[in-house]
Amino acid sequence: MQTGTPTGLAQCIGVPREVFPGEKRVATVPEVVEKLIKLGFSVVVESGAGDAANCSDETYRAAGATVVDTAAALWAQADIVFKVRGPTPQEVAMLREGTTLVGFIWPAQNPDLMQQLADRKVTVLAIDALPRTLSRAQKMDALTSMAGVSGYRAVVEAANAFGRFFNGQITAAGKVPPAKVFIAGAGVAGLAAIGTAASLGAIVRANDTRAEVADQVVSLGGEFVKVDYEEEGSGGGGYAKVMSEGFQQAQRAMYAQQAREVDIIITTALIPGKPAPKLITAEMVRSMKPGSVIVDMAAEQGGNCELTEPGQAVVKHGVTIVGYTDLASRLAKQSSTLYANNLFRLTEELCKTKDGVINVNMEDDAIRGLTIVKDGSITWPAPALKPAAAPAVVAKPVAAAKPKGGHGQSSAPASARSTAIIFAFGALLFWLIGTAAPKEFLAHFTVFVLACFVGYMVVWNVKPALHTPLMSVTNAISSIIAIGALVQISPVAGAMNRPDSLITWLAAAGIVLTAINMFGGFAVTQRMLAMFRK
Ligand code: NAI
Repeated sequence: MQTGTPTGLAQCIGVPREVFPGEKRVATVPEVVEKLIKLGFSVVVESGAGDAANCSDETYRAAGATVVDTAAALWAQADIVFKVRGPTPQEVAMLREGTTLVGFIWPAQNPDLMQQLADRKVTVLAIDALPRTLSRAQKMDALTSMAGVSGYRAVVEAANAFGRFFNGQITAAGKVPPAKVFIAGAGVAGLAAIGTAASLGAIVRANDTRAEVADQVVSLGGEFVKVDYEEEGSGGGGYAKVMSEGFQQAQRAMYAQQAREVDIIITTALIPGKPAPKLITAEMVRSMKPGSVIVDMAAEQGGNCELTEPGQAVVKHGVTIVGYTDLASRLAKQSSTLYANNLFRLTEELCKTKDGVINVNMEDDAIRGLTIVKDGSITWPAPALKPAAAPAVVAKPVAAAKPKGGHGQSSAPASARSTAIIFAFGALLFWLIGTAAPKEFLAHFTVFVLACFVGYMVVWNVKPALHTPLMSVTNAISSIIAIGALVQISPVAGAMNRPDSLITWLAAAGIVLTAINMFGGFAVTQRMLAMFRK
């Protein structure tokens, strides 16, 4: 079903200036304007919309957009409005019937706004309502883009308020210990903060109620600190749940110890639809060293620290507590570019025909999820997604884990017995082949069996992520068969008076083809390995 302009006429995408106080982001950037025009749309931008994100009117014009002077002119022309923040009442009043609005709306928190938008008979796509667990939706996931930027900026804010280096140094003027950073909550923002702090040289520790993030913390250079209490914290959809009182008590004890030891705490803990869990008490703040810093990223949802003042940086008990709620906006150019790319990917999904007309297809899970108002009817919340076809990760009970040391007597002898049986069977088979097969065959067969064994052991011990480069390098190495072709066209073969030119030509072709396999294989392996290097 079409919205806005009738089929056949290209629609106009409008990008107004954000009016929320202090908001520096803009919903599209000049590089993305060009791509939207290639999809068949026309783009109109309000004058000054990108100024705070270093995108001048001139750059928008150069990219093919029309720049208009007033918000009224923009809202009057636009069939589709791209915004960052939700619309103000004045902006809602300017929405024409049939328009499509895209931006952060937070429908659960803004029921009145939802009703006002429905009354305007518009269609609203809330980018924050995108079903994030759909892998196809990742390219449109603006929450992730913004949280990544904010996690980075949180570390920058911490570094700004902290009076020392992050990395340890030994200088003529003395020894500088590395800063110790503790990250509470390792979601998107937390992981970005871990990577940033670790790359600055700090010792980074992190905790999360979802045990599955422990590997990600380690892979980014952090250490995962466990709470001494067995309870799984996943609440479904990749989000956390409210933990039991017993867990919270054990967690508080661990956090209190970390507060005494570390220099910087960055908190990002959030449970969707609930106030942020209070993890850092006033007592813990008091126990921190003077000059320490807390950056509370959950300030907008009530804060993870009892002493946070949302939107402010305050000093309490000698500790700077940063509660900024605009971290992404503080890196306006970066976050605007990522957000613009997310909206472009969304537009591609809405306009598969590339004719400048969007189709809000309610049969598409991703589009359905973020459509919160459709032609004046509230369509939020979307029905729950059907379970994915991919097999779910099955939690292994602790008791089923591989036994170590002297425990688990029952399974260790069983596996030793089966290995012994396999070996005995293999030896018997080998003996039978040996008695029947010719002598030369046995030598080749031995080499073959050993090659299989070595190959298996090598591949088995390589991380699964490296299997593809391993296959390609193995493929390149297999080009050793070129030696056979070289022998065929060598002067020795000629001296043996073999006038068969067909063999020579076939050998030459063989060399050319294996050379492609060899050099190509090594080149592809290099490229794949480069993706794993920093
Ligand atoms: P997320 O939902 O992906 O991550 C939150 C993490 O906290 C999850 O990994 C969750 O398991 C963990 N968590 C929940 N309860 C916990 C507890 N009791 N103890 C330890 N960990 C716990 O959210 P995302 O996208 O990473 O954002 C993190 C926070 O940062 C949110 O509060 C978000 O609103 C905020 N944020 C703030 C910005 C700002 O400008 N201040 C900008 C962007 C995000």
